[in-house]
Amino acid sequence: MPKSIDPSAKKQLAARVNYYRDMGIYDFYRRPVTEQMLAADEPGAPVAISMTSAPSDGTPLSVIQDKPSALKAIREDIGDCTRCVLHKGRKNIVFGVGNVNADLMFVGEGPGADEDEQGEPFVGRAGQLLNNMITAMGLKREDVYIGNVVKCRPPGNRTPEKDECDTCSPFLLRQIEVIKPKVIVALGAVASKNLLAINDSMANLRGHWYDFKGSRLAVTYHPAYLLRDPRQKKEAWKDLQMVMKYLGLTPLAKAPE
Ligand code: URA
Repeated sequence: MPKSIDPSAKKQLAARVNYYRDMGIYDFYRRPVTEQMLAADEPGAPVAISMTSAPSDGTPLSVIQDKPSALKAIREDIGDCTRCVLHKGRKNIVFGVGNVNADLMFVGEGPGADEDEQGEPFVGRAGQLLNNMITAMGLKREDVYIGNVVKCRPPGNRTPEKDECDTCSPFLLRQIEVIKPKVIVALGAVASKNLLAINDSMANLRGHWYDFKGSRLAVTYHPAYLLRDPRQKKEAWKDLQMVMKYLGLTPLAKAPE
């Protein structure tokens, strides 16, 4: 006997479809829902995902996958991307790294030279400071997930242009949708303004919680900025303490250096 769809599930599905439409994703593929899929509705179990295009062999795509598979599908959708000019100078697409079940996710601006070389976000000097910030929060880098607004290095480390952010950020939004962190920390103006779609100063954006698609979002200074102006580290530490309080984390005694 086919199960009837309860109205709240229908509503949730409609909201999800609208959410993907907002991100510019219009094509959805599904296979018949099995008993096994229905039984898997528990934390850490499969999550629903969508794809931007059908596979070339016409195979229907699954809408239900575990988190690593869902992230892999996003990476496959990105492919050997040439959607914006940033592809011209890149060595590696820097997808994102970390714990797929993380409560805490950091979002930066875009890869620099070291990240482009190694294909991993925040591995240069700014990354070392981010690691210190994470440690000071009583966590390890492996506990969190780290991503960027754009996945290819802008030439000369310039700020990514709006069209580059608009082209790339749907993939970041899909990563967030899969990971579902309790808290997102937006590092710097590019990440904060892109995620929040608010054009305001960092001074005004910091110090508040924002609702972000089921997660809470906090804004703090970018580690690269803190390297240039270390006096602001104590301000960033205040932002991180707000996050720690919410996540019930016990900080180390000392602010990150
Ligand atoms: N700066 C960023 O915004 N992201 C990185 O991955 C590295 C430096």
